Amino acid sequence: MQTLACTTLCLLATITARTIPDDYHNERRALLDEETLTAVGGKQKLNDEETLANEILMKWKTDELNASYLNPQHFNFSKHYFSYKKDIEKSKVYQIIRSMPKGSVLHVHSSLMLHPDILVKLTYEEYLYACYTNDNIKLQFSKAVPERPCGNKWALVSDLRNSSGDPDVFDAHLRDYFTLYRADGEDYDFVDINTVWERFNKVYYAIKSLISYRPVREKYWYETLKQFYNDNVMYIEIRTGLHSLYELDGTKHNKRYLAELYKNGTDKFIEEHPDFIGVKLILTRHRAQSIDHIVDAINTTRELKAEMPDLIAGFDLVGQEDLGRPLSDFIPILSEAKDEINLYLHAGETAWLGTSTDENLVDAILLGSKRIGHGYALTKHPSLMSALIKKNIALEVNVISNVVLSLVHDVRNHPLATYLALGLPVVLSSDDPGAWSAEPLSHDFFVAFMGVASKRADLRMLKQLAINSIVYSSLDEDRKSRLFSVFNERWDKFIKNVICNKFYRDVEVS
Ligand SMILES: *[C@@H]1O[C@H](CO)[C@@H](O)[C@H](O)[C@H]1NC(C)=O
Ligand SMILES: *[C@@H]1O[C@H](CO)[C@@H](O)[C@H](O)[C@H]1NC(C)=O
Ligand SMILES: *[C@@H]1O[C@H](CO)[C@@H](O)[C@H](O)[C@H]1NC(C)=O
Ligand SMILES: *[C@@H]1O[C@H](CO)[C@@H](O)[C@H](O)[C@H]1NC(C)=O
Ligand SMILES: *[C@@H]1O[C@H](CO)[C@@H](O)[C@H](O)[C@H]1NC(C)=O
Ligand SMILES: [Zn+2]
Repeated sequence: MQTLACTTLCLLATITARTIPDDYHNERRALLDEETLTAVGGKQKLNDEETLANEILMKWKTDELNASYLNPQHFNFSKHYFSYKKDIEKSKVYQIIRSMPKGSVLHVHSSLMLHPDILVKLTYEEYLYACYTNDNIKLQFSKAVPERPCGNKWALVSDLRNSSGDPDVFDAHLRDYFTLYRADGEDYDFVDINTVWERFNKVYYAIKSLISYRPVREKYWYETLKQFYNDNVMYIEIRTGLHSLYELDGTKHNKRYLAELYKNGTDKFIEEHPDFIGVKLILTRHRAQSIDHIVDAINTTRELKAEMPDLIAGFDLVGQEDLGRPLSDFIPILSEAKDEINLYLHAGETAWLGTSTDENLVDAILLGSKRIGHGYALTKHPSLMSALIKKNIALEVNVISNVVLSLVHDVRNHPLATYLALGLPVVLSSDDPGAWSAEPLSHDFFVAFMGVASKRADLRMLKQLAINSIVYSSLDEDRKSRLFSVFNERWDKFIKNVICNKFYRDVEVS
């Protein structure tokens, strides 16, 4: 036996020596090094402390990924986000990412930012009526029973809760209207895109009916900023249709009022949290609407931008791309508007190659979009990818959104992997974190880092992604450099915390 083993070994050794050319290993290393250098973060240089923190981070990352590599049936990121969401907090990598300063959120929709648990708390406000119809709920604040007809009858939420017998069960049921997330794993895998968007739109209308009441919107906005701030986000660009708010006496406010409310609420928040940089609005209209409506929305954007230049960043079209109008329907008006109003267009949020949604990418680039929302289909278009690189257009990537809204099932196959490898100008965002009960940004960073990016991708990539979110924001140079100084200060603290915190350190580092 022994001789046989020895002979085999010797044989192997000679084969190895004979068949691998001398410089093969060097060339192999050079190719891999080139890829590392090209990838997002590849050119970041870490100082000594960062290097140590990186070793800790990578030890945990390798541990967590190794376990799955050998047992792929346990690999959470190839499953639906809802199936492992509640376990995320247990991950050491996640805990590190959660405490990491993340710069800005640049792609998020105003009504779907807040966690549903807080939305349920807002239903404790006085004068709230509810009416259940089929699968839907309508909510309205009113002194008397709302006059608008409703299939079932209107009742005060406080009465319904009180007579329900179990307020906790009542609240849990109410919360289901505010989120797509189901902890008990109702089958969300492989729901087709139209079905899931239908459910998503229902969630949107339920929330909208709650937060259209001015006093609740003010609280909503404050709680939202608090959650983003606590997730280490220091600046936000939100997409908003600026719908009308109402008062108890029936007064209705115009669009300008909501813009002002966002501004006032943010100013107040900054007074209490001076290192929060602020908020800008990207005004939106639903892409299924008529050309006249879009023209009207662009006019509003132009007017508000003139009045509040620091608040209004630009314009976008929203709603499911496959079912809405293609950007090509709006070329005349958008190309006329683009010199005055910056465009931040959703484009290519589709898995359908060669369709009008897919071709939205061409128009977004030609219309001079400053960033592109999703750009999910981009890897299938090499010429468009070159154009995007040449024009330095950033991609706002929302991985969890793409899973929940049924574009991708196993995130290892998400095109972000390619964008990261190519070193494209990428920012990570969360689209509608409230609608799937996610943390404002940390869950998206975690899933991208563990499930999409290379196993070798490390702290340099995370840092570059945070830096990108500042670089590609619409802030002017002054506010950008203020955001950078806030970021750098928090980053140093974060690094020290990772190194010194015994909790993270319970790991052997060379
Ligand atoms: C992870 O697995 C690789 C081989 O697949 C091994 O080289 C490495 O030591 C493992 N790391 C840890 C931390 O277990
Ligand atoms: C993956 O999910 C399982 C159970 O669903 C959980 O026990 C485990 O902690 C999760 N791992 C990670 C890294 O989230
Ligand atoms: C709940 O209902 C009971 C009787 O059904 C009533 O006595 C009580 O005041 C109600 N509480 C609230 C908070 O409405
Ligand atoms: C915002 O604040 C200004 C200045 O205090 C005030 O005049 C205005 O009414 C406020 N608007 C809203 C919508 O709260
Ligand atoms: C939009 O503004 C243009 C120029 O200011 C004006 O001619 C047009 O009537 C406006 N359209 C709408 C729908 O308000
Ligand atoms: Zn979006």
